[in-house]
Amino acid sequence: MALSSRAIALRSVLLAGAIVALVEIVGGGFSLATAIGAGLSVPAALLLFRDRRMPGRQVPVGGVKPPSASFVSPAVLLAALPDPVVLIDRRGVVLNVNPAARALFPLLVEARPLAFIVRAPAVLDGIETVLRGGEAVQAEFREHGVVERTLEAHIAPLVSRADALPEGAVLMIRDLTTARRLEHMRVDFVANASHELRTPLASLIGFIETLQGPARNDANARERFLVIMRDQARRMSRLIDDLLSLSRIEMSLHMLPDDTVEVGLLVRHMIETLAPLAQERGVTLALEQAPVPLFVTGARDELLRVVENLVENAIKYGQKGRRVDVSVMTARASAGEEVAIEVRDYGPGVAPEHLPRLTERFYRADVADSREKGGTGLGLAIVKHIVNRHRGRLDIASKVGEGATFKVSLPRIAPPGGTA
Ligand SMILES: Nc1ncnc2c1ncn2[C@@H]1O[C@H](COP(=O)(O)OP(=O)(O)OP(=O)(O)O)[C@@H](O)[C@H]1O
Ligand SMILES: [Mg+2]
Repeated sequence: MALSSRAIALRSVLLAGAIVALVEIVGGGFSLATAIGAGLSVPAALLLFRDRRMPGRQVPVGGVKPPSASFVSPAVLLAALPDPVVLIDRRGVVLNVNPAARALFPLLVEARPLAFIVRAPAVLDGIETVLRGGEAVQAEFREHGVVERTLEAHIAPLVSRADALPEGAVLMIRDLTTARRLEHMRVDFVANASHELRTPLASLIGFIETLQGPARNDANARERFLVIMRDQARRMSRLIDDLLSLSRIEMSLHMLPDDTVEVGLLVRHMIETLAPLAQERGVTLALEQAPVPLFVTGARDELLRVVENLVENAIKYGQKGRRVDVSVMTARASAGEEVAIEVRDYGPGVAPEHLPRLTERFYRADVADSREKGGTGLGLAIVKHIVNRHRGRLDIASKVGEGATFKVSLPRIAPPGGTA
């Protein structure tokens, strides 16, 4: 969240007060620095108090007695900062680690060299430059813990006299991991989406040019090409529809849908809709249903898309098995009962290395096969997002050569106006 400029200014004054006061500890008794530190701490404390007691109002001149600055020790000030801060002396030994920095580097302790724990060459070089009298530097580095993190250290010198070397340095650290991951995802997404659009577009342009040139008077070729061009244009339009619905679902991810939906009816309706596709591919669709209507809270259109994607995939990719079983049943769960929609095919199945990635956008186990069947690799990403929005679960199980089972579990609710 963005900080207001007042908040940033307050933070800077607090930090500056703390740092200048700590120069005294580093340098061993430089009283001017202490005086400046305390001097900066008092207005900082005053600002802090004014914010708490009279939001948005000025302190009347001389009206409030300044509170004692004695409680604002440098360690207290640093502890109040939300960002990780580490102070080191001129030898690189740690003088103070605030709680945010300790959360990031649990092994970092006072009175031991920082280089024992933080080994990133970029940071160590930066510290050396700063302690030798250089200006503040920024250093990006990676930490290989349980998860790999991308961090950035801002290293600034602690100078008490302009003509002397710094007494130490302050490291302010930012965690860039999430920002970098989102950046990567965005770049990948744009690259994938444009690649998927470019292929049909290139083919359309090619056919248009052929029709304007060599095939200008060839009526047969024109008819053939127009069919292909229509398919390519439809493919692009489907891709755009999928991308739009994905972003719509993502935008509303935290809003619970609130219609009451009877799952059996919805699944039956979708199976009837997909019957022509199944017939075209020589696949038999079989539906098994619980004897009573099963209700969930949800958005009907979105749940229809879930069933459509799963049954369509089973028909497309499990074609060889010639049969697709769909069932709507109840299942016991730790928190109450669930409605489980299961779609099972008897096709080639999915190899284990692909299973965890099937719900990623544009991920396809066999890209050529999916493209040939008109797929864009967005179907299961949409399914996962819709299921998450409905506080449900998607489980995928498969054995190569024996087919695949896609199961969606949603919290069951009582029927409207009665019991089942
Ligand atoms: N029942 C299945 N059997 C085998 N592989 C499957 C099955 N369902 C999905 N897959 C694999 O998962 C990939 C991703 O499926 P998804 O539904 O996300 O995309 P798609 O079907 O290729 O395209 P779209 O759904 O956007 O038309 C498919 O390309 C296919 O490789
Ligand atoms: Mg699909």
